[in-house]
Amino acid sequence: MCVLLLVLLQISISSSKMIIVRGAPEKSTSYPTQLYTGLNYTTCTSKCASSDNCILSYSNSSGYCLLYAVGDIILVRNDQDIFSSGNESVSFKILNSPAKCADRAEDMLLGITNEYNKNNIESYEIQVSEIAGISYYSINYEYTFTDGCNNWLNPTPTCQNCNKTMFSFSALPSANESTSLIVTSWNDCLFYCYSNPTCFMVYIKIFPTCKVVEYGNTTGWTYREAQMPVGNSFLYMGVKYVLDRISCQFNISSLYTGQTYNPDSKINYMQFQGSTTGSTVSLIFYPW
Ligand SMILES: *[C@@H]1O[C@H](CO)[C@@H](O)[C@H](O)[C@H]1NC(C)=O
Ligand SMILES: *[C@@H]1O[C@H](CO)[C@@H](O)[C@H](O)[C@H]1NC(C)=O
Ligand SMILES: *[C@@H]1O[C@H](CO)[C@@H](O)[C@H](O)[C@H]1NC(C)=O
Ligand SMILES: *[C@@H]1O[C@H](CO)[C@@H](O)[C@H](O)[C@H]1NC(C)=O
Ligand SMILES: *[C@@H]1O[C@H](CO)[C@@H](O)[C@H](O)[C@H]1NC(C)=O
Ligand SMILES: *[C@@H]1O[C@H](CO)[C@@H](O)[C@H](O)[C@H]1NC(C)=O
Ligand SMILES: *[C@@H]1O[C@H](CO)[C@@H](O)[C@H](O)[C@H]1NC(C)=O
Repeated sequence: MCVLLLVLLQISISSSKMIIVRGAPEKSTSYPTQLYTGLNYTTCTSKCASSDNCILSYSNSSGYCLLYAVGDIILVRNDQDIFSSGNESVSFKILNSPAKCADRAEDMLLGITNEYNKNNIESYEIQVSEIAGISYYSINYEYTFTDGCNNWLNPTPTCQNCNKTMFSFSALPSANESTSLIVTSWNDCLFYCYSNPTCFMVYIKIFPTCKVVEYGNTTGWTYREAQMPVGNSFLYMGVKYVLDRISCQFNISSLYTGQTYNPDSKINYMQFQGSTTGSTVSLIFYPW
């Protein structure tokens, strides 16, 4: 069947449209920043439609509603015409929809360049892809940074064309000293750290406060399995990695383990050493 019978509702706010499909965000690359409970599908979708930074909302049949800001989500499971047990659905915000309604939902959603032009993102486009036999919608961003290393939600390090990168995951940080920054998305928080030479780590527990931790001001973190948030408490962590051009093959689990790296030379600390016990990473910084 080539016709996607999944446009359940369209809400138009100026030229943008919300296109609703069945599916759910892939948890490991998903960083929602607003959670509502007791909202039906229509109201949840409207919350996203009327919020400038929101590009996607997720709801299920128990009234659970999440809003995602631009840059904070890259993969959505595509349930096609199957209802998941929670009747999960995702509403995409499409900024540049075709002038007239298309016959097929796909034509309203896929392959359209949505001009965004803020929060370090120029545009985004939605495509369908298959990973290990499962169909996904992927949200592909065009970033203003062009060093090739800014797809930070992707758990695989990309090291080819850049000298530093960020890693993003769910964890409980250990850090006493931090400064606070008000952000519009998790992606903003990551970009701040990436751009600021003294920043080593950022985290968000309560949106919209991004906590910024300098080199030397953390003793590590404890990984947590990615999960849908409960209450308005999130545990998102990002760490900077200044590439040594040897460990590009390392993934996030092995990156900070038993190795010593030279961070940005502008900083007070020459190197740090990581060690792992279970899901806890402990760091020791060595001053110049
Ligand atoms: C969704 O909730 C809103 C606000 O409570 C209500 O006005 C609307 O009728 C509800 N829609 C459906 C389909 O239940
Ligand atoms: C399932 O979800 C659709 C929206 O995606 C909604 O219209 C329908 O009422 C839901 N059914 C149940 C049983 O919640
Ligand atoms: C809706 O999602 C929330 C959060 O993941 C979950 O706790 C709840 O059980 C889900 N509801 C259904 C009906 O699956
Ligand atoms: C990356 O590092 C190399 C070697 O230090 C340097 O030559 C190059 O200019 C750097 N590239 C960027 C984009 O900073
Ligand atoms: C890092 O910790 C030192 C004290 O150990 C403190 O002086 C400095 O302000 C801290 N930096 C930030 C950004 O919190
Ligand atoms: C955090 O504070 C405790 C005592 O309150 C101290 O022992 C520890 O060294 C501090 N850690 C950092 C990273 O500043
Ligand atoms: C991460 O890398 C290590 C060593 O390179 C490897 O043993 C491990 O299987 C990798 N883990 C994943 C999840 O790919």
